[in-house]
Amino acid sequence: MMLRDAVDADLPGILAIYNYAVLNSTAIWNDTPTDLSGRLGWLRDRQAKSYPVIVAEEAGEVLGYASFGDFRPFEGFRISVEHSVYVAEHAQGRGLGRRLVEALFEPARAIGKKVMIGGITAGNEASLALHTKLGFVQSAYMPGIGIKFGNRLDLVLMQKEL
Ligand SMILES: CC(C)(COP(=O)(O)OP(=O)(O)OC[C@H]1O[C@@H](n2cnc3c(N)ncnc32)[C@H](O)[C@@H]1OP(=O)(O)O)[C@@H](O)C(=O)NCCC(=O)NCCS
Repeated sequence: MMLRDAVDADLPGILAIYNYAVLNSTAIWNDTPTDLSGRLGWLRDRQAKSYPVIVAEEAGEVLGYASFGDFRPFEGFRISVEHSVYVAEHAQGRGLGRRLVEALFEPARAIGKKVMIGGITAGNEASLALHTKLGFVQSAYMPGIGIKFGNRLDLVLMQKEL
């Protein structure tokens, strides 16, 4: 398994992992799957800002990915980023999530970011455990601010000083 920057050829793998999470989990608060052009636009946007998109690859297969974007679109928030991490179901529990998030820290520091923020659905025990182990601390609990599969969702914000 290796970690490296994503290239266009990784987009089908990234798309499959993302859409699986859209359709089968509350990890991402979208109901509608996206397509390759949507993911290409996302990758280009991240690349244009020099924001990393890192994939975990094994034998040509994308097993997971992590990235960050702006936390909020106002100038004062420019020192903070909000990241995401996804690992394919069959590759979970092998330490990939941890390595992927860890791989974001240096690139974030290198472009002057001070704080990394994860928005985690309450009850996502794997993600809450992963982030706690990486030194993120809970800074907000926002009850009922979203909805998916007919249920109101609570959001936990966890942050780490870089
Ligand atoms: C959350 C997710 C990224 C974790 O990735 P992973 O590769 O399975 O996690 P890791 O194997 O790196 O585990 C990291 C740590 O979290 C702990 N952990 C992982 N899953 C856990 C679980 N279900 N319950 C408790 N702890 C768990 C591990 O014990 C590990 O701790 P350690 O490093 O001290 O051994 C992965 O489950 C995933 O992609 N889930 C679906 C999408 C998602 O929820 N993304 C996050 C959105 S905020």
